[in-house]
Amino acid sequence: MSLPSSVRLVEVGPRDGLQNEKQPISVSDKVRLVNDLSAAGLRYVEVGSFVSPKWVPQMAGSAEVFAGIQRSPGVTYAALTPNLKGFEAALEAKVEEVAVFAAASEAFSQKNINCSIAESLQRFIPLMEAARAANVRVRGYVSCVLGCPYDGEIAPAQVAAVARELYAMGCYEVSLGDTIGTGTAGKTRQLIETVAREVPHHLLAGHFHDTYGQALANIYASLLEGISVFDSSVAGLGGCPYAKGATGNVATEDVLYMLQGLGIDTGIDLDRLIDAGARICEVLGKANGSRVARARLASR
Ligand code: HMG
Ligand code: MG
Repeated sequence: MSLPSSVRLVEVGPRDGLQNEKQPISVSDKVRLVNDLSAAGLRYVEVGSFVSPKWVPQMAGSAEVFAGIQRSPGVTYAALTPNLKGFEAALEAKVEEVAVFAAASEAFSQKNINCSIAESLQRFIPLMEAARAANVRVRGYVSCVLGCPYDGEIAPAQVAAVARELYAMGCYEVSLGDTIGTGTAGKTRQLIETVAREVPHHLLAGHFHDTYGQALANIYASLLEGISVFDSSVAGLGGCPYAKGATGNVATEDVLYMLQGLGIDTGIDLDRLIDAGARICEVLGKANGSRVARARLASR
């Protein structure tokens, strides 16, 4: 398959990137990050989550963040919602699009959302109905697609079965999450081949955490399999509170640099993106997780 001429990057830094941070981050710093990202040309930003504050305290202020951001035309501002309660709160905060999240592994489903995979899918049905009535699009995530921190290896057919359910209930796109970043390029290709028998290629996205340093290779492998939507996190921020040791998503700057090298259009300005990443790293007092950003910042 030939490479796509353009790719859509889904920026998950304000959500996946920050959800695991232990230190308090002010609403205004979160707002600034979201605004910086849209100004850099990102057309889709996952701003926060409407989940239980007992489970993920850092996302508790998501409604305030939504109230504070400057909404640029053409940008989708989205949030995670695990159930109807979360969806209703998201709607109140004028979220334009939501995402539900299931897992391909039973153990991870229990640890992350306190129910089985089947129960989680059941829980999404009233949410999907409410979203349809409110004209809100719903994206679906499947976690642990290339390995689980508790169950180990995950069969591609298991991922395909969950992806098929999300697609059948009305998710317009299904993002395949390598939550713990153990996937390799070969396994990624096999996975996509299997899942694409249930959900068409053009409705799949890749969500690679970079724990083992394989994310860019996995994205390239996905491009070869016809995938053209990828989730990434500015400065490589993040991790999942329920996947110990998992690092952040692949850095948006690094993905962008690779795509630019392949002549693939994204509409994003690399320099402005690097500035956005540098600023939030300064706020967090953290080293920048993007190799491209580190190199460029050092040579400025
Ligand atoms: P539960 O404890 O089983 O829920 O949690 P419950 O229905 O029994 O309710 C317990 C309490 O939570 C009640 O409050 C509810 O009102 C409240 P109380 O009466 O005790 O005061 N509650 C809520 N509050 C706010 N918003 C809500 C909500 N729902 C219930 N939406 C639940 C179940 C799903 C709520 C919980 O497990 C949860 O919030 N989990 C979220 C975990 C999470 O956000 N994980 C990180 C995101 S997933 C991820 O990072 C992976 C991804 O990036 C892809 C990848 O990398 O693979 C997407
Ligand atoms: Mg993730």
